[in-house]
Amino acid sequence: MPINRLNNSDLVMEDAILLHDTPGHQVYWVGGAEEGEAIPCNRWLVIDQDAGYLLEPGGCDHYHTTSDKIDSVFLAQSITHLLCSHQDPDICASIPSWVEHNPDMKIIIPHLWRRFMPHYMIHGAEVVPVSDRGASIAMPSGNHLRCIPAPFLHSAGNMVVFDERSGFLFSGDIGASEFDGERPVLFVDDWDAHCQRMLAFHQRYMGGNKAVRAFIDSVKELPITAMLPQHGALFRGDEVKRFLDWFGAIDVGIDAMFPAP
Ligand SMILES: [Fe+2]
Ligand SMILES: [Fe+2]
Repeated sequence: MPINRLNNSDLVMEDAILLHDTPGHQVYWVGGAEEGEAIPCNRWLVIDQDAGYLLEPGGCDHYHTTSDKIDSVFLAQSITHLLCSHQDPDICASIPSWVEHNPDMKIIIPHLWRRFMPHYMIHGAEVVPVSDRGASIAMPSGNHLRCIPAPFLHSAGNMVVFDERSGFLFSGDIGASEFDGERPVLFVDDWDAHCQRMLAFHQRYMGGNKAVRAFIDSVKELPITAMLPQHGALFRGDEVKRFLDWFGAIDVGIDAMFPAP
């Protein structure tokens, strides 16, 4: 079913959820939405022909459930690329487990974090650093996963990933939402309520207003069909522009904490 016709009530969160399906190219949500988890972690599986790309692999705590979810739609051991928007443990801590199953794994991560990878004691995997100019990863179909730098949102070395085929923008912590005391949803339900779920996180974690403006400028012309953050609900169609307008209008980070006199 096309992503625009999916509803929160249709979803079985214990399963992998198909979000895009065109010949030779699928995107699945393989994240978690455990009861009582205020900030649920999303993980995304992109399958292009016979190649598997796992975006935001996740923490150690969710490795087995993620791997089981992937196995229901694709062989988890066939994943060849891990894409990490930044260095946080809720994204990277499971890297050693993934590499154990595929020593030829490629780990694609902003270049600032390359020097931290030896601390995971991973052997055999290739770390592919994404420079501050970005990078483009060719998939077997000829489409690309474009790694677009979004520094200081929140991490100093941070990227978003645009899938040319689906038009999905995987936005890392940008657009994250928190569900304190309520059941998480995968699709935005009530816009005003959702802004409240995002506000405190963006004000405190994101680096500053200049970084937000640079990010918006770098993505606003892309043919984005959906924006998929690492936490909480994703944005479809017009909601993407609505989010960018909201993000561009609030003070964040250094500008929120130390406003000009
Ligand atoms: Fe983070
Ligand atoms: Fe995060």
